[in-house]
Amino acid sequence: MKKIGIICAMDNEFALIKQTLAHGRTAQIGRCTFYCAEYAGKDIIAATGGIGKVNAAACAQMMISNFGVECIVFSGVAGALSDKLHIFDIIVANDVMYHDLFPASLLRDNFPNCDCFPTDARLAELAETVCTELGLHCIRGRVVSGDQFITDSIVKARIISDTHGDATEMEGAAVGHVCYLNNLPFAILRCISDGADDNGEMDFDTFVEQAAHRCAKLTLGLVERI
Ligand code: ADE
Repeated sequence: MKKIGIICAMDNEFALIKQTLAHGRTAQIGRCTFYCAEYAGKDIIAATGGIGKVNAAACAQMMISNFGVECIVFSGVAGALSDKLHIFDIIVANDVMYHDLFPASLLRDNFPNCDCFPTDARLAELAETVCTELGLHCIRGRVVSGDQFITDSIVKARIISDTHGDATEMEGAAVGHVCYLNNLPFAILRCISDGADDNGEMDFDTFVEQAAHRCAKLTLGLVERI
């Protein structure tokens, strides 16, 4: 049976997934709780890893090393960088990149030609198909990550100019980095909760629950089709 990892950062992003896997068991590794259940004929290992790059990286590596997952899907919310993205739209990442690594070319010292981590093309295509089926507006693009919640139009403009990112969050590039090191396919799915601008905090508070729920639905739909 295929073994699939699902990671969220926050409990509200994880709620529907946890509910869907409620018939399974939990496993504790260190301070992380993993929800393990069969769903749609697959073995699912799912967890709330916590906010930020280190939490996401540690959770991804635990899933790989302790459970042997064959791919990882990250499900959650993001701030829009691209004008093409509005509240509740979905971005399916083509690649992920850090926006707080300076100079970004440092990664190339270890990994030639590597400024960003490409997601798995098949998983991304499947996710796009599920969006169409669920009536969710979706674009493919670049998701950029850093240990910073962006609620400032000037910072937003700097990130766009540095990275050409379409959406920003705090975990995707770390998960991509860990999957890259382990040669594992991964997908980063995000629903827009805010514009990462001066209204970002208020919009996030207003829209995060619904955006998180939409992304979780998409993620479960993707898992059904993998
Ligand atoms: N996740 C959702 N919105 C975000 C933002 N504006 N900055 C960072 N992470 C986010």
